[in-house]
Amino acid sequence: MSTVAAVDLGRRRFLTATATVVGGVGAAFVAVPFLKSWSPSERAKAAGAPVEADISKLEDGAMMTVEWRGKPVWVVKRTPKMLSDLATLNNQLVDPRSEIASQQPKYTQNANRSIKPEILVLVGICTHLGCSPTFRPDIAPADLGADWKGGFFCPCHGSRFDLAGRVYKNVPAPTNLEVPAYRYLSDSRVLIGVDPETA
Ligand code: FES
Repeated sequence: MSTVAAVDLGRRRFLTATATVVGGVGAAFVAVPFLKSWSPSERAKAAGAPVEADISKLEDGAMMTVEWRGKPVWVVKRTPKMLSDLATLNNQLVDPRSEIASQQPKYTQNANRSIKPEILVLVGICTHLGCSPTFRPDIAPADLGADWKGGFFCPCHGSRFDLAGRVYKNVPAPTNLEVPAYRYLSDSRVLIGVDPETA
């Protein structure tokens, strides 16, 4: 289990690649015992293992990214203003009440799409063709228009999502962004990939 704050994703990818090369050199000497000690089922388990996010330093209005199953997972600490703005957007959204069951666990099927109102956890993959949208918490920026109250914008084909990951009408993405399974280990630690009731 690891915590990966992707403040600088590009640098981390580089570090990962470097570690892989070094590991490959070492593997020439230990390949047999290594393979014997790590069965295919254990490898599969590691690939889908839950990931812990330390949110203790996450500031109001900010977002951090962790990697889970090879995908970016965003954790956003919403401000009271961000939360109150959500309620004003319903008539502009495709699925404001999160009725498409595949897009979130039942315990986040609420107005904020989260366990705790202020903490949003989302898979950062656009539901159109899989680009990663950008976090745009700014209010009414010139490029997104006077009505923009913060959210996520996909640069690939222009899909827009609010700060609960709910998709706006008349964009290519068909559904809200996915909320993964997650639970709290403490007030400052979130485990992504595990439902509360099964952990
Ligand atoms: S992939 Fe996001 S709008 Fe097409």
